[in-house]
Amino acid sequence: MRTLRTPAELRDTLTPHRRAGWRIGLVPTMGYLHEGHLSLVREARARADVVVASIFVNPIQFGPNEDLARYPRDEAGDSAKLRGAGCDVLYLPEAMYADDFSTHVEVGGPSAGLCGDRRPGHFRGVATVVAKLFHLVAPDVAVFGQKDYQQLAVLRRMVRDLDFDVEIVGCPIVREPDGLAMSSRNAYLSAEDRPRALALSQGLEAAARAMSAGERSPRRLEAIARAPLEAANLRVDYVEARDAMSLAPIEEPQGPIVIAVAAFVGATRLIDNRVMAP
Ligand code: PAF
Repeated sequence: MRTLRTPAELRDTLTPHRRAGWRIGLVPTMGYLHEGHLSLVREARARADVVVASIFVNPIQFGPNEDLARYPRDEAGDSAKLRGAGCDVLYLPEAMYADDFSTHVEVGGPSAGLCGDRRPGHFRGVATVVAKLFHLVAPDVAVFGQKDYQQLAVLRRMVRDLDFDVEIVGCPIVREPDGLAMSSRNAYLSAEDRPRALALSQGLEAAARAMSAGERSPRRLEAIARAPLEAANLRVDYVEARDAMSLAPIEEPQGPIVIAVAAFVGATRLIDNRVMAP
C-alpha cells in the first residue's frame, strides 16, 4: 500500500492505472478505522482493480461546538488495518483547503431535517469534501456506510444532480456483538455510558419487530423506538421515520421506511438507523 499526501502524487499514481482501463474504487473516511470502515474497503476491493482510501478529518463538516479538536486519530493503526483489508493507496492529504477557500457544494432535498437541521452546515461540508475527493481520485465507484444514512442519500443526490460519473455503493451497518452500531465516536463512551448506548439499537429493533407484527403508523413506530432511549435517560436529538428511498417525511408508509435516531449518551452524540418494510 502506498501512502500519498498531495494531489500531484495522486494524479501521478492513478493516471497510468486509469489509462490501462483499471477500475478505481474510493473509500473516503475520517480515520480511527473500525470493522465498519474495513467492510467498505473490502466492498471496494470486490468492485475495483485499485482501491483508494482517504483519511481526512474534515473541519468544514463540524459545527463550532462539535468534537473536531478531540476527534480520535490513529494514523499508524489505520494504515495497518487498511493494508490488511486490501487497500492499495492511502490518501492522507497534507492540506485540503486553501486559506481563502470559498466554494461549497450545497445539496437540498435529502439534507433537510434530521442531522441537516441539528448540525447546520454539516452536509455542505461533507458534500464539498467528497466532491473534491471525487475530482482528485476520479473513482469509478465510491463506497459509503449506511450508518450515515442521510449522508448517503445526500451524496447520491449530489452525484445525480451534478453528473458525477461515479457509482455510489452503500454498505450495511456493522454492529458490535451486542448490537451497538460501530462508530469512531464509540471511543468517547465511558464504561458507565457504554451499556446505555445500546438503547439506540434496542429501540430500532423493537420498532422493526412491531412493524413485522403489523404496526404501520410512523408516529407509533417512532414512539416504540424512542421508549428505550428515554428509559436509559439519554438526551434524544431525534427519532424519525422517513421514506427509505427519498427520505421524505411520511404519514402512511408506501414502501420501506427508515427510522433514524440521534441521541446523546453523556456528551457523545450517536446515530443509528434501521430500514424496515411493511
Ligand atoms: O462519513 C465520513 O466519515 C465523512 O463524513 C466523509 C464521507 C469521509 C466526509 O468527510
